[in-house]
This record gives sequence, structure tokens and C-alpha cells, in this order.
Amino acid sequence: MTLLPCATAIAYPNIALIKYWGKRDEALILPMTGSLSLTLDVHATTTTVSPDARLSADAVEFNGTLIDDAAARKVAVFLDLVRQRVGSRVFARVRTRNDGPTAAGLASSASGFAALAAAAAHAYALELTPRELSRLARRGSGSASRSVFGGFAIWHAGQDDASSFAEPVQAASLDVAMVMAVIQAGQKAISSRVAMRRTVETSPFYPGWLHQNPLDLEAMQQALAAGDFTRMGELTEANALRMHATMLGAMPPVRYLAPDSLRILDEVAALRQRGVPAYATMDAGPNVKVLCQRHDALAVADALRALLGDVGRVVVAHAGPGVRVCEAEGS
Ligand code: ADP
Ligand code: DP6
Ligand code: CO
Repeated sequence: MTLLPCATAIAYPNIALIKYWGKRDEALILPMTGSLSLTLDVHATTTTVSPDARLSADAVEFNGTLIDDAAARKVAVFLDLVRQRVGSRVFARVRTRNDGPTAAGLASSASGFAALAAAAAHAYALELTPRELSRLARRGSGSASRSVFGGFAIWHAGQDDASSFAEPVQAASLDVAMVMAVIQAGQKAISSRVAMRRTVETSPFYPGWLHQNPLDLEAMQQALAAGDFTRMGELTEANALRMHATMLGAMPPVRYLAPDSLRILDEVAALRQRGVPAYATMDAGPNVKVLCQRHDALAVADALRALLGDVGRVVVAHAGPGVRVCEAEGS
């Protein structure tokens, strides 16, 4: 019998305002450039890791169903990293639940691996500082490094494993909301990982991204420090479109945006014309997230609901907390 405890962790997805798109090192998940995000307060992942000496392999349950697929293998490979660190050969039962859509461009890999990292570290008695936990989460999915922290977080590209971590960013007097138009909750046709690899390898526009993204990141940090919401919004929308431009240049091209995504972009521009500062961002999927100020969130949500009708669902999110371990009982 094992004396290891089981541990449950909760983490939230984060949406990048300045995106991560492309790896310098695939094995360590070191990014080409830094990125900056907002952790949300909706669509949590809850993950329990229960090491059990009787198991002959990791057993992964996802949203109530035992899985044995690529996602389960990614979890097992990640647990191997933790076991190596503590010298354990004990497999674990992993139960995980996503409250939000999985693999739809709403950052399930971020909340998923931030929760897994925290639960696994706790269950295998691996003591980590928040920075070390961010580095560990990064090994599961790059964006997960940022979900270790609440609110705004910057992931430094770094030079190596030790220097590539996320940390919180203070934002002067900003109270923002992220209004999400969920137009397709199903799984994307091509994962973020494969799409960004193809972009790096084949897009003639990628060098332009490598030049521009650090400039966008620097400008975003200045806008945040100054509490300049308009500047933040302009940079957010421009950076997202620049990322999509790089992948449209890949061979074969990667296009995540759907007709409804573009209709929403038009509506967001119309909102601005009507005096509501709102700015769109899109990740590896067709769903659009609209950055606005808290006091405009309901007006933005109403406009999106009116536009979409029955097509989708509109969810209002705000800044959420970093990952936390909420339970650690003997198993
Ligand atoms: P997303 O836009 O949702 O982040 P990705 O293509 O980046 O999409 O990643 C989706 C993958 O993340 C899933 O196929 C799965 O491998 C992994 N993932 C999602 N949720 C979890 C979870 N709760 N626990 C472990 N892995 C997860
Ligand atoms: C478009 O972190 O999901 O959401 O590191 O391969 O797991 P892997 O990719 P992932 O990529 C996120 C891409 C993005 C932009 C971002 O979140 O910065
Ligand atoms: Co992801």
C-alpha cells in the first residue's frame, strides 16, 4: 500500500492578449517568444491525482469516462516527469473534469495541465515554489505555465528550462472582463501543438511574427502599467490577427476562424463605433473572446447574443485566481 496522499487541484483557463505561437524546443516546451494573458474565473478544470501502488499503469478518467488515447498518454508522460523528480515508480489514478469545452480554442490545455501539475506535485510530495510549478505546468502545455497564476501573467520566453516561467503582472487600476462567444464547442480539427509546429516550419510570415511579437509584448506591458485600456485592447486585437495571419501562410494553411468568427469581429468594431471600447481575440479555434471593461460586459454580451441568436452561447468572465490545491486526503 502506498502512503502517498491523493490531491485535488482547481485551475482556470487563461486567454493570451499577446500570444504564444511556436516552440524553440519541442521537448522542453520553450517558446519562441514571450506571451501575456488573463486568467479567467469560468470553465475550471478540477483534477485529482491518487497514487496507488497496486496500479500497473496510470488510469485516466476524463469527464467521468476512462480514456486510453493520446490525451491519456500525455497525462502519463507528464506524471513520469513528476515521478522522475521524486524517484517514485508508483502509478496513479487521475480523475479530471473540464467545466468548459475541451480542445475548442478556449484554453483547456492551460487549465488542464496547471491543475494536473499542482495535483501531481502535491500527491507525489514534490515541493515547488510557484515559479517551479509554472515551469512544470509548461511541460504539459506551454499556456499552462500562465494558469498557475491569477489575473494577468507574463510567460518569459527564457533561454532554457530554468528561465522559461510565468509570473504575475500588476495592472494599474484595470477592471476588465472577457466576454466569450462560444460558437463551436466541439474539438478543433488540428491541435494547437500541430498547428504551431506547421506554422514555424512552413509559413513565410513567421519571421515577421518573431520580429513583431516582442514589440507587442513590450507595448502591452507599458499599457498595463499605465492602466491604458484602449491601448491594451488595440494591441490585443492586432496581436491575435497577426497570429492568425502567420498560420494562414502555412502549408497546408491553418484556418481556425469561421464565418461566425468574422461576423463577431464586425460586431465588435460596430460596438467601438457606438462608443463601447471592446476588442476581440481568437486562439486556436473559431470562438471569439471580447476584452472590455467590467462596466461594459453586459452590453457587450447582449450585443453578441443578439447577433448570434441560437448559433452559440455567450459567457461573461472576469479575472480569476491561480491554481490551488483544495484537498489532500489519504487514499
Ligand atoms: P485548447 O484550445 O482547448 O487548449 P489544445 O489543442 O491546446 O486545445 O489542447 C487540447 C488538449 O489538451 C486535449 O486534447 C488534451 O490532450 C489536453 N487537455 C485538455 N483538458 C485536459 C485535462 N483536464 N487534463 C489533461 N489534459 C487535458
Ligand atoms: C493560440 O499552450 O495550447 O492559445 O504548448 O503545444 O500545448 P502546447 O500549445 P498551447 O498553445 C496555445 C496557443 C494559443 C495562444 C496562447 O495561449 O498564448
Ligand atoms: Co491549448
